[in-house]
Amino acid sequence: MDKLLDFTDKTIIITGAAQGFGALLAKELAARGANLVLGDIKTEPLQALAGELKALGTKVIAQACDVGNETHCKAMVTAALDTFGQLDIAVNNAGIAHPLGPIETLSNEAFDKQWQVNVMGVQFGLRHQIAAMRKQKSGVILNVASMAGLGAAPLGGAYSAAKHAVVGLTKTAAYEVAADNIRINAICPFFTATPMVTESDMVSMAGGLEKAKATLARGAPMRRIAEPIEVVNAMLLLLSPGNTFMTGQAIAVDGGLSSM
Ligand SMILES: NC(=O)c1ccc[n+]([C@@H]2O[C@H](COP(=O)([O-])OP(=O)(O)OC[C@H]3O[C@@H](n4cnc5c(N)ncnc54)[C@H](O)[C@@H]3O)[C@@H](O)[C@H]2O)c1
Repeated sequence: MDKLLDFTDKTIIITGAAQGFGALLAKELAARGANLVLGDIKTEPLQALAGELKALGTKVIAQACDVGNETHCKAMVTAALDTFGQLDIAVNNAGIAHPLGPIETLSNEAFDKQWQVNVMGVQFGLRHQIAAMRKQKSGVILNVASMAGLGAAPLGGAYSAAKHAVVGLTKTAAYEVAADNIRINAICPFFTATPMVTESDMVSMAGGLEKAKATLARGAPMRRIAEPIEVVNAMLLLLSPGNTFMTGQAIAVDGGLSSM
């Protein structure tokens, strides 16, 4: 295996691993030799994925984890250390959208939920992952933000606010821990055909999946939304054992949207 994509015996936490980016990333990392600690609130599909990966020979722990609950986030790190003795990589991927609407109509509840899951979910992860990694004097963390964390997300104001916060946390944490040989970056994908999009209100509002994809693609220079594997491949590149000097970055994976 090319050493730039060789994750053999790396211990890797992924949150939100039951479907979408998290599940696909788990499969790609398992195929490259990683030991996985997977968490999600959807425990049935999570356990099914773990079973599939175990059958292929991967060492996997799968546990219920609500990232809005600090005890659960700490337990993910404890599981990695107790079982595998180290934590090499953590991907804070779990996230939620909210009902779309103009900013003046968004509910306080939508903002509260975004803060608890999309922001504190990352902060709880960072707190306990960094504590372990500082002891090792090594580690890599990838936070899944969004293009909504780099600019406007019309009708998704609370999500945009939360994802901007994820970018701020990423940059600050990266600066603070860099001298301990810990890298922290954020990935900022454009709309991608995961269940977050394909099972959302946007599909019924647009009158079907293909119409929704076409509508969402309008602003993108590549004139399409992303396929999940395209974003997951970029995640692998950011996590690569060869990518040792990139930290504190919020990387757009956006079909050229941010080139303007
Ligand atoms: N799909 C896109 O267009 C897109 C674009 C940019 C960023 N993102 C981000 O990518 C990440 C992954 O999203 P996805 O597109 O795979 O969506 P998805 O909805 O398909 O998957 C998200 C996963 O997170 C889990 N989850 C939700 N709340 C959780 C919680 N409190 N604790 C633990 N797990 C929880 C869900 O159960 C699900 O398995 C999210 O942070 C999302 O904001 C997605």
